[in-house]
Amino acid sequence: MLMFNFIELLLLVLPAWVANAVPVVLGGGPKLDGGKNAWDKRRWLGDSKTINGLVNGIAFGSVVGAIVAAGFGSLYLPGLTVSEKVAFAVMMSTGAMLGDLLGSFVKRRRGMKPGHPSRVLDKLLFLFVALGLGWLVYPDLWHALGWEGIAVLTIATYALHVVFNWLAHALKMKKVPW
Ligand code: CTP
Ligand code: MG
Repeated sequence: MLMFNFIELLLLVLPAWVANAVPVVLGGGPKLDGGKNAWDKRRWLGDSKTINGLVNGIAFGSVVGAIVAAGFGSLYLPGLTVSEKVAFAVMMSTGAMLGDLLGSFVKRRRGMKPGHPSRVLDKLLFLFVALGLGWLVYPDLWHALGWEGIAVLTIATYALHVVFNWLAHALKMKKVPW
């Protein structure tokens, strides 16, 4: 049973979206896998996954969540305390980045180079890992979202990902438009 309206759904997922987008602009520094190969002689994660991207993604997603919690509290997880809302945003941001890493890990195991497109691994896995971690601090999440909420978030995330990556490519921030 969906308990959120569309604006509430967008605010709920915003920290994860921010976390996922920020590394394109604020990535860099040492590679998370240290440039090392896994047992299959392929990179653990690849050159696209950096420390700065991970840290900035989590930090910016969490800060945006805290701002929304303080400024739009009635539309962001109504019923939760401000600190519960911030905890949720931190979990959503962290989950988004972990999901992104997991996607790269799976892509490397399948022999796909960084930038190789994968609908689910690039565009949606981060959302589901984010929701999974968010659920840890907000046990009512699945119930409150319902299948309708999950479907709306999935479609909105996919569409936004397509638009943003096309933009980032057009602005020469990304090598490939996905
Ligand atoms: N990025 C980063 N650190 C991260 C995640 C992303 O620095 N932890 C930056 C990198 O500059 C990367 C860009 O964000 O090139 C886009 O990330 P993504 O689309 O996930 O990289 P891909 O090149 O598609 O690599 P992969 O196949 O591993 O997803
Ligand atoms: Mg990618």
